[in-house]
Amino acid sequence: MSDADTQKRAAGEAAAGLVEPGMLVGLGTGSTAAWFVRALAERKLGVTCVATSTATAELATSLGLTVAELGDTGEIDLTVDGADEIGPGLSLIKGGGAALLREKLVWEASRHCVVIADAAKRVPRLGQFPLPIEVVAFGHKTTALRICDALGECDIGAAPRLRVRDGQPVRTDGGNLIYDAACGRIEEPAVLAAALKSVTGVVDHGLFLDLADLALVGTADGVLRLEP
Ligand code: 5RP
Repeated sequence: MSDADTQKRAAGEAAAGLVEPGMLVGLGTGSTAAWFVRALAERKLGVTCVATSTATAELATSLGLTVAELGDTGEIDLTVDGADEIGPGLSLIKGGGAALLREKLVWEASRHCVVIADAAKRVPRLGQFPLPIEVVAFGHKTTALRICDALGECDIGAAPRLRVRDGQPVRTDGGNLIYDAACGRIEEPAVLAAALKSVTGVVDHGLFLDLADLALVGTADGVLRLEP
């Protein structure tokens, strides 16, 4: 296992230790979240889970966890999920796995949110990781031009690029498309978040601000706890 995988696993296992019997638990998406799901399943706590993607729902179910629909079971006690960047105040970029919309829906329905990651995800300022932006497929090229304008208003010169895999546009679980914007430096994440949300056709973006209450970051020296 690589150092990054060892750190992801340690962070996921530490997060599983936060879960108590009977909780309603939000399950993130990605390789770090998968370590959490495995560790949670091993604890056999009788929890009910809400998944942020089809892939995570399938993993959780295969491990014997009970998965419910968001909204069928009341407020989520704790959601644990990975991130692509962890910046100041636990501001985050998420969506590298194209699950950002469902992730944000689940995070916003949760009493507590814990982000788990390997040490390389910590950054002094957000923006090196291209910011994922989910858009509806209809008219997406026009929407991309409007996104360009919104980025420009925030002094970001990046041109958003349609995410493609195996020659085909990536589709999210909801059937939408993803554009990635290589911002470089995001000086004012909240201003950019508002500008992007104001574009018709943008479903959501990967800036997760004021949502995480705790980060558990795997490092060479153990798991670091960070608060906003
Ligand atoms: C998926 C995400 C993931 O949490 C993020 O991409 C981190 O992935 P990984 O844990 O595999 O590094 O936001 O949409």
